[in-house]
Amino acid sequence: MAIKKSKTNKTKKVAKVEAKPAKTEKTTVVQNKPAKKKRATIKEEIKDYLAERNNKVFIGNWKMNMKFDDIKSYFDHFNTLLKKDKILSQMNNLIGIAPTAIGLLPVAGMVKNGVMPVAQFVHHAKQGSYTGCISYDQVHEYNINYAIVGHSETRKMFKLTENDINLVVKTLLENDMHPILCIGDTLEEYESKETEKSITRQLLNDLKGIHPELVKNVIIAYEPIWAIGRKAATVEQIQRMITFIRTTIEEMFDSKTAKETHVLYGGSVKVENAMDILKVKGLDGFIIGGDSLNPESFYEIIISSQEYARVNSIINAKKIAKANKKIE
Ligand code: 13P
Repeated sequence: MAIKKSKTNKTKKVAKVEAKPAKTEKTTVVQNKPAKKKRATIKEEIKDYLAERNNKVFIGNWKMNMKFDDIKSYFDHFNTLLKKDKILSQMNNLIGIAPTAIGLLPVAGMVKNGVMPVAQFVHHAKQGSYTGCISYDQVHEYNINYAIVGHSETRKMFKLTENDINLVVKTLLENDMHPILCIGDTLEEYESKETEKSITRQLLNDLKGIHPELVKNVIIAYEPIWAIGRKAATVEQIQRMITFIRTTIEEMFDSKTAKETHVLYGGSVKVENAMDILKVKGLDGFIIGGDSLNPESFYEIIISSQEYARVNSIINAKKIAKANKKIE
């Protein structure tokens, strides 16, 4: 996916490590010796492993929480946790924090280790008479390139239509920004088994008229409204919807787009359930409310992925091999 990241987190194409062919030395006995295979370094092995996967995305949606002093102590702690973690720094995760509009600049000034500030809501107009709003262009000016679009709370509060959401998504993409598009079913829709119908409608309308090439720059978050701040959907329910969303994207665009687009889950993600939910096939990460307000919990959720465990084991295996070699 072409998501924009800080230098430290940039996804790079990874070349497979191949042993160089042996030089032909006509006059020496080395001639028939097979070329010695160069062992991959830890970094190369990790890169090879991660190159096969979509990078994981973790967005902390702070909603209407955190004052300046809270933000400061949050980052004192969070930055230390990230800095200390030598596994995480080798991964291509995208970690974002979405504070209130007034918290965006302090957050932008305090984030480190490739963490991105994310706007919670932007208006599609560049400027104008829209009291209470901030425009995409105003956040873009500060190099803030991610914005949540169409969170159910925002849709309800501002009575946003799917056409309004579509305008914001289009505007962000046209301006090299990344919408984090939230879609979700209401409790009534869920109870009347209309979840798929509702999600299809939202995808069709919210992504209407978008060039297939640009769709992969949208991060889609499935957030069942009935699960937010209550109880998470089950792993089976999440699996069904992630597969359904990818299939719908494939039908609307193509299979490459469906594969490359990041699809997240949101709704009562906690330290306790993160690891199980992250095993859902095709799920690329989370958008987290309550548990992202605590730097420790947010960090614990970020390191719950199978990819983190695998990178950790690659590092450990190499360390053990190195230690054994020394003993020999
Ligand atoms: P909770 O994690 O608090 O349920 O919030 C989810 C959410 O709305 C994220 O956008």
